[in-house]
Amino acid sequence: MAFSQDILCIGAGYVGGPTMAVIADKCPDLKVTVVDINPARIAAWNSDDLPIYEPGLLDVVRRARGRNLFFTTDVPTGIRAADVIFVSVNTPTKTFGEGAGRAADLQYWEKTAREILANSDRPKIVVEKSTLPVRTAEAMRRILNSNDRGLRFDVVSNPEFLAEGTAIADLESPDRVLIGGEETADGRRARRVIADIYATWVSRDRIIESNLWSAELSKLTANAFLAQRISSINSISALCEKTEADIDEVAYAIGTDSRIGPRFLKASVGFGGSCFKKDILNLVYICEHYGLHEVARYWEAVVKMNEWQQTRFVRTMVSAMFNTVAGKRIALFGFAFKADTGDTRESAAIQVTRQLLEEHASVVITDPKALDNARRDLEHVTGDVSFEADPYVAAAGAHAVAVLTEWREYRDLDFRRILDSMVKPAFLFDGRNILDHDALFEMGFNVFAIGKSPRLHF
Ligand code: NAD
Ligand code: UGA
Repeated sequence: MAFSQDILCIGAGYVGGPTMAVIADKCPDLKVTVVDINPARIAAWNSDDLPIYEPGLLDVVRRARGRNLFFTTDVPTGIRAADVIFVSVNTPTKTFGEGAGRAADLQYWEKTAREILANSDRPKIVVEKSTLPVRTAEAMRRILNSNDRGLRFDVVSNPEFLAEGTAIADLESPDRVLIGGEETADGRRARRVIADIYATWVSRDRIIESNLWSAELSKLTANAFLAQRISSINSISALCEKTEADIDEVAYAIGTDSRIGPRFLKASVGFGGSCFKKDILNLVYICEHYGLHEVARYWEAVVKMNEWQQTRFVRTMVSAMFNTVAGKRIALFGFAFKADTGDTRESAAIQVTRQLLEEHASVVITDPKALDNARRDLEHVTGDVSFEADPYVAAAGAHAVAVLTEWREYRDLDFRRILDSMVKPAFLFDGRNILDHDALFEMGFNVFAIGKSPRLHF
């Protein structure tokens, strides 16, 4: 079959894989190729054991793979053939040099720009899919257009707003698609090419066009606002614990105000995920670069509050358990940074585990999807940590169970059986407020939840 356009995506990660799978599924007339330098990842995308767990993803991949969706490590051939190149490589926080710990590390990003230039023999549209500091497109454009072969590239910013665990639903029916381009005839034409791809399944009124810098900055701003809501509700959860107010009641009461809205007001052990912290720190760095120190401090507080919430959770555990957890078995229910994903990047569970190990606790971790990643994350930590697929086995002989991920299956566990197998007094710390605390207290647990008064038998 002759395809109408050849689309390439560089980077087959949590964004590149699902995004391209949905584009290929929705647009059978496009040839979509996803390339990555990691051969193991590409092999997994070509199998039924995909490299990431995402509900509904395998069905989408199976429908399109081999028809108009291809995964390969051959980056140069992919670039040569492409009309449009999405770049979805990782942009982690820099760990070295100027801006270490805050600025985005753009080395993978810049490398792809140079690869695109080296392997192109005709003009192409290059789409920023990765989350990038505002004005990165300028650097991209300079690198790409500084060639002596008369090649011209249009750079478009099309940030991705999907959340893990709901990626397929988010991609199939997005709140909006944002496409930023240069305010020139060529820029507008490039923007339209990308908008037309999405318009195959997204209604035009949800496709927003803007200038390049607005698109880049809107992505960082959206993540900052989302994370800010969580830090705001978590800050109030601490006050609830001091005053007998109940954080779920407060969140409900304020969320019914249509100006505030109910979503992203779930108090928790702290937000995780690969992006919130990195993107806010990047925003902080950019603000400082422009001399906006007050703005930088304002957003930095969102990250600090999150770190405090994670530490506060461990402090509550230690103080509740008579100021010592040394030698006590503690079962952590959930290690993924949220439910329905195996991803553990920046998961609150990592900090909770580390701090419990510093207190010499014996930590047993269970999770339905994230145990392999948990093992990798904790490879180099010292202390008594083990991994157990079965939550009942993890809890047996434990002094405490702490829920760190809101997996649905944890609500349906037989807590009577769990209680009977635990050391008494048995403690339950619900870092996600998903369990029936009154029922668990009646059963015999000492229950601590986020933003609620403790329920104690002594
Ligand atoms: P990821 O680490 O899962 O995937 C990135 C992939 O790029 C890796 O497989 C890596 O091997 C590959 N890569 C790096 N350099 C390459 C090169 N030169 N050539 C070919 N492949 C290369 O990252 P991710 O979670 O998919 O995130 C990608 C970008 O999207 C980041 O900027 C992130 O901030 C943004 N984002 C992520 C999410 C999310 O939910 N994870 C959501 C929205 C936006
Ligand atoms: C987030 C954004 O929601 C996406 O729009 C964005 O594209 C993505 O970051 C990104 O740029 O990477 P994600 O991190 O996958 O998506 O997941 P979220 O649902 O936002 O959850 C992030 C963290 O906040 C999780 O640890 C979650 O448990 C926590 N959270 C979320 C709360 O503690 N309370 C809430 O009310 C909501």
